[in-house]
Amino acid sequence: MENTRKKVVAIATAALTALSLTACGGGSSTSTATSGSATTSTASTATSTTSTAAGTSGGTVANKDKPVCWFNRQPSNSSTGELDMTALNFNDKTYYVGFDANQGAELQGQMILDYIKKNAASIDRNGDGVIGYVLAIGDIGHNDSIARTRGVRKALGTAVEKDGEIDSAPVGTNTDGSATDVQDGTIDVDGKTYTVRELASQEMKNSAGATWDAATAGNTIGTWSSSFGDQIDIVASNNDGMGMSMFNSWSKDNKVPTFGYDANSDAVAAIAEGYGGTISQHADVQAYLTLRVLRNALDGVDIDTGIGTADDAGNVLTSDVYEYNADERSYYALNVAVTADNYQDFTDATKVYDPVSKQLDSSAHPTKKVWLDIYNASDNFLSSTYQPLLQNYDDLLNLDVEYVGGDGQTESNITNRLGNPSAYDAFAINMVKTDNASSYTSLLSQ
Ligand code: BGC
Repeated sequence: MENTRKKVVAIATAALTALSLTACGGGSSTSTATSGSATTSTASTATSTTSTAAGTSGGTVANKDKPVCWFNRQPSNSSTGELDMTALNFNDKTYYVGFDANQGAELQGQMILDYIKKNAASIDRNGDGVIGYVLAIGDIGHNDSIARTRGVRKALGTAVEKDGEIDSAPVGTNTDGSATDVQDGTIDVDGKTYTVRELASQEMKNSAGATWDAATAGNTIGTWSSSFGDQIDIVASNNDGMGMSMFNSWSKDNKVPTFGYDANSDAVAAIAEGYGGTISQHADVQAYLTLRVLRNALDGVDIDTGIGTADDAGNVLTSDVYEYNADERSYYALNVAVTADNYQDFTDATKVYDPVSKQLDSSAHPTKKVWLDIYNASDNFLSSTYQPLLQNYDDLLNLDVEYVGGDGQTESNITNRLGNPSAYDAFAINMVKTDNASSYTSLLSQ
């Protein structure tokens, strides 16, 4: 207990040091708080002198009335998926930014099906007439993960319904086809009918509780392949972090096509070496929207500014890359499949999206201080794609963002570092668990 308190104080001190550094001269500083957790503060050099450690205008607005953007993990019930509308309507400046999980999931399933059809002659490695796949599941309580599991099962004909929806539960091992959460499907290719079987699937959670865990996926493919490796014709994964871990530890050498999600730069590059494909969730658009809704709310302008309507710098998005659902207070980026046909266009996942890459004028949009957390500093997608994008956009939008990296396991590891919300003008929140919005809003309501 005492130890934990000390650690929190140490983290707070580190954060203050980072703040005073940015207040004095801009630039960026990083301080590693605990292993797997980090606090980074980045300020735009040009405008950082207007920002102080105590925030700019933050002092006069009550914390409960400040802009909030949930991102990547939508406040929702992790068992039923039902949206947490209380959190999404925390105040009139609250939004969620994510992507269209169902559209993306459908694309992922279709991409795998297309691959099978195109490579019919060589796909069934052991010639047993069964196309076997294994599936790495990220987090059984995360909407994105659930949607992707369903999308793959639906496209491959292995889905079964439960309570009116596709069952997304992991099957464990199902080499004999007897599992009840999935069924055997069939695919007709070039006049031949193949059985399609989900040989195994598992939530990739490590012993400390972190989900979407790449190392667990790498170990698991080792276990699976040593007992039924010759039956595995396809490796599917809810994300690239786990997908690449399985690819590097087994499927690359065994020439088994592996499919992920996120279009992280390393996964896109691996397509040249046999990685089957991935889905871009347009993180370049999401990262922009995450900070943009805060900027707009802070400026007191129409929320559509720089989104559907061009701002004074000319930043604007077109409707082919995002949609807004006003009832859900949610912006959703649209997904694109990335395969051998088009991967060259996606090699740098951290590049800002050109139509929204123009610098805002700092007199009309003065620097504001934002607190932002990443639920797991080790999450592959968030750390290698999303955060670098946020860091590219924060300068363009004159936002001085303090980045807090969690351990992916406990909400308090993050909320402990939101000890003084009054020091910030706005908040961008990535929860460990989608049910836990009130752990944050209660701090803002005090
Ligand atoms: C990403 C995963 C990531 C997860 C974290 C998902 O949208 O695709 O890669 O691990 O978000 O919440």
